[in-house]
Amino acid sequence: MTMERIYNFNPGPAALPLVVLEEIRENFLNFKGSGMSIAEISHRSQEFDDVINDAVARAKRLLNIGDNFQVLFIQGGASMQFCMIPMNFLSAGKSADYVDTGTWSTKAIKEAEIQGKSIDVVASSADKNYAYIPKNIPFNAAADFVHLTSNNTIKGTQWSEFPDTGSVPIICDMSSDILSRPLDAAKFGLIYAGAQKNAGPAGVCLVIVRNDMLDRVPDSVPTMLKYTTYSAKNSLYNTPPCFAVYTVQLVLKWLEETVGGLEKMALLNQKKAHLLYNLLDTGSFYRATVEPDSRSLMNVTFRLPSEDLEQLFIRQALENGLGGLKGHRSVGGCRASLYNAVSLDAVEVLTEFMATFEKKNG
Ligand SMILES: Cc1ncc(COP(=O)(O)O)c(C=O)c1O
Repeated sequence: MTMERIYNFNPGPAALPLVVLEEIRENFLNFKGSGMSIAEISHRSQEFDDVINDAVARAKRLLNIGDNFQVLFIQGGASMQFCMIPMNFLSAGKSADYVDTGTWSTKAIKEAEIQGKSIDVVASSADKNYAYIPKNIPFNAAADFVHLTSNNTIKGTQWSEFPDTGSVPIICDMSSDILSRPLDAAKFGLIYAGAQKNAGPAGVCLVIVRNDMLDRVPDSVPTMLKYTTYSAKNSLYNTPPCFAVYTVQLVLKWLEETVGGLEKMALLNQKKAHLLYNLLDTGSFYRATVEPDSRSLMNVTFRLPSEDLEQLFIRQALENGLGGLKGHRSVGGCRASLYNAVSLDAVEVLTEFMATFEKKNG
């Protein structure tokens, strides 16, 4: 069995910090002297209580959120949040504002519409194939909430700053950029993120909810779809995805203790993305697909002169130990996902490979 690992640019599930994987391996057969693995112990045990409480405390410290927020762990992925949000927070006779910045926002909108809820799509970048983040949006001051997708994993755009929505809380899908930069929580009523990009493995969604939002949850919502079910029981109403929560805890520990917090993480993420965008902007062989002021630091999307060259590029990259560079099947092209666990070293190797590939094929 080879122990060789590749440079992993997958969009999600995605690269995890090597030290986290090593710690999992080291403790796997006997977690904290229990004689059992984390996948075998009770979610009601002291050991697991310590795991979930530590994960919550670390998430709060890293994201600088106070006791007016709760950190929850919910199954069903970010896609389940698309349906839970209108169910819990959009009251009869009121409406919510949604901004459509591509695939995932579009799906969030659809889930609200399926429920017959009143929503307004107050801005969309569909006119340019979602290659930018809309500006000067006419938000409704009476809306129940504004829904945004902070980073558009497929289209490669990201909000560099969040808009002013007055007293209307922003509900934000941060699946693909949570923990990649510091957070100013004041604008948000709820933040959610499927863990499988920047926070851990698939199977759990991190939800950060402001306490006053919980007062809105109607009794009529089914138990497992109510945020209050999770907030009342520290996400332990039923069996949580213990292994996924444990891995999230280790990723948060890595961010705090090894990386040194989100400001340092953000600087490193900027450096990685700039390295790659600089190469894309030099010459005409590679072409970034997104307008410069809307570019994602997490998912860098680009094209080559032809689809044949793109296929050759993806194949030869993999032969050189660089994986996960294929664009999403709905858009084609190439995409390098540069999440937290992707090192600067990995991006340097990628850009060197890209320069050589251009020399040979340009
Ligand atoms: C921004 C964003 N939102 C939502 C999702 C859907 O997440 P899940 O598969 O956890 O439902 C994804 C998945 O890639 C995503 O990138």
